[in-house]
Amino acid sequence: MKQKQTGWMLVCVLLFASAAVFAGGSPEEPEPVTTANRVEAAEHWTVAWNFNDEMVEFTLTAPTTGWVSIGFNPSARMADASYIIGYVEDGDVYLREDYGTGRTSHASDVSLGGTDDVQVISGTESDGITTLSFAVPRDSGDEYDTVLTPGETYTLLMAYGPDGSNNFTARHSQRTALEVEL
Ligand code: HEM
Repeated sequence: MKQKQTGWMLVCVLLFASAAVFAGGSPEEPEPVTTANRVEAAEHWTVAWNFNDEMVEFTLTAPTTGWVSIGFNPSARMADASYIIGYVEDGDVYLREDYGTGRTSHASDVSLGGTDDVQVISGTESDGITTLSFAVPRDSGDEYDTVLTPGETYTLLMAYGPDGSNNFTARHSQRTALEVEL
């Protein structure tokens, strides 16, 4: 009898231990790696930035042949964040500034009465990875843009669209939000 009880206890302990491992160790979302001026959300999915006098230069990479984007300071989910979103098509770079018009929607600054202040530096698509470099003013004066100040902490949204989504509208295949000091 004693032996039977000990056996059951052992089974219970093993079940509990494996449940704890599964609950804690989900490998689905890799931890982002943040170093000075750079965030790596996952392999080939990065944001890097550099401040100069008037502007901030960003370089985004993502494992997609579709759109790639960053956003700043939503009030809830995607709402009220300012976005820069872009893609490469036939070697040309298309970039646009957007604003979060709802919890899961965004529209171009221009369509809302604001201004498009993003300047293309370069863009490439190679081996399924898109790289976009662009500059935005630290303070454009547009109500649909976030003022970017070195040393301040922002909620940074990162997202990219499915392969081939050469547009500003397809839903993301990956997205994440993190706190970052610029
Ligand atoms: C292009 C069209 C887009 C559509 C149709 C769209 C749609 C949605 C929808 C339906 C959700 C809620 C469900 C989900 O988590 O998937 C969501 C959440 C989210 N989206 Fe988008 N999105 C778009 C673009 C973007 C862009 C450009 C970014 C940022 C760079 C972004 C960042 C996020 C984030 C971070 C969340 C999670 C917010 C949270 O739950 O806290 N999205 N989006």
